[in-house]
Amino acid sequence: MALRFSLFLFIFSLCFICDFTAISAQRDDEDMVIKTMEDFSGYPIHEPNNYPNSLSSLSVNSETLQKQIDELATFSDSPAPSVTRILYSEKDVLARRYIKDLMELSGLSVKEDAVGNIFGRWNGYEPELAPVLTGSHVDAIPYSGKYDGVVGVLGAIEAINVLKRSGLKPKRSLEVIMFTSEEPTRFGISCLGSRLLAGNVELAELLKKTVDSQNISFSDAAKSAGYASAMGDLSEVFLKRGSYSAFVELHIEQGPILEKEGTSIGVVTAIAAPASVKVTFEGNGGHAGAALMPERNDAGLAAAELALAVEKHVLDSGSIDTVGTVGILTLHPGAINSIPSMAHLEIDTRDIDESRRNLVIEKIHQSALAIAKKRKVILSEFEIVNQDPPALSDESITKATELACQELNLTHKKMISRAYHDSLFMARVSPMGMIFIPCYKGYSHKPEEFSSVEDIANGVKVLALTLSKLSLS
Ligand code: GLV
Ligand code: MN
Ligand code: MN
Repeated sequence: MALRFSLFLFIFSLCFICDFTAISAQRDDEDMVIKTMEDFSGYPIHEPNNYPNSLSSLSVNSETLQKQIDELATFSDSPAPSVTRILYSEKDVLARRYIKDLMELSGLSVKEDAVGNIFGRWNGYEPELAPVLTGSHVDAIPYSGKYDGVVGVLGAIEAINVLKRSGLKPKRSLEVIMFTSEEPTRFGISCLGSRLLAGNVELAELLKKTVDSQNISFSDAAKSAGYASAMGDLSEVFLKRGSYSAFVELHIEQGPILEKEGTSIGVVTAIAAPASVKVTFEGNGGHAGAALMPERNDAGLAAAELALAVEKHVLDSGSIDTVGTVGILTLHPGAINSIPSMAHLEIDTRDIDESRRNLVIEKIHQSALAIAKKRKVILSEFEIVNQDPPALSDESITKATELACQELNLTHKKMISRAYHDSLFMARVSPMGMIFIPCYKGYSHKPEEFSSVEDIANGVKVLALTLSKLSLS
């Protein structure tokens, strides 16, 4: 017994002189020492290391992270510096493979659900507790940039690497997610993966009959990307409330405030309420030379008038927070010498005040009816595709992020997100929070989108420290 005890003391003192900022291989040795100590003593020696050993040990490998951002940008259907990566396209599948490989390299156990939301888990030492989730998307609208969403996925994997290198042993498991189709480009539905995770029954039904502009069904597209089970019951994607104890998303601000003010981090308190509407006008069309002006019922002009009405109703709200955009306007048959017989518009409108945004939609509808009457065209479609409420961040997460900023000595400010994110829907099933980093002139959804390696590294550090705090709670 005396021999056992002195051996125990010897190993125990070894533990004190060991370098606690050691790399993970050394941590494994240390685990072995602890295990030996425990075997000898018959009781646990000390709690696992559930906080980074020191804040200076939170080191981001910025060079590798930037290389990954650049590499991912090469999976694009438009020339650099633009990025176009549409759901279930060949380039999207390559990007998915890339993300899964990185997750595996970081030691995460990877799984995918029926629509291709990708999860990578690092088991905590209390794996039965609800994990903490972090991530974003990597799909990109046509002629977009390389940072939107990508920073929140690659940055999340790097945050896990940072924590592993720091010697942390998470209490709750930590998971990284790459959401399927945050952008609405292919099927007209934004945040498709996160809406399903949040248990959207109507969407699960709607997707059975949804087709893209080439008439390819959602399930065929999913199958071609390797997700054959997307043809079945999509309710298997739904998460139960409480499946995750917290969800945090790191993202570029997509606005100019942080850069202008020289603030390192935005702590998001709420996400504005987005809505989108599809409108179609139909007229008789005809010859651009022969049909006389008084005889025409030009669907294109009806659409043009409605586009201006959208701008007017949005400005009439009197608030800078109300915005509206006609991002799609297509004319049929699309020939210079043919009066448009059909015009299709897709309208995006948002506000942090949901009722004010709903009033704008109602006014747009009234205008569409009045314009159709005046121009003798048929309003054959006025479909509100989505009309989502805003979401509030959870105080426990904003507090953890603010504390992380203070500990890391980084300036921060609370702000709202005017862009939508998967966080908007994750907030329905989990406490939610978001971390913003500055981006050049607030540019986004265009090739000039840019965030510096320093700003990205700050975001990753704040995310890593926030995750380690949430893992303990
Ligand atoms: C997200 O991509 C948005 O349009 O806000
Ligand atoms: Mn986007
Ligand atoms: Mn995004």
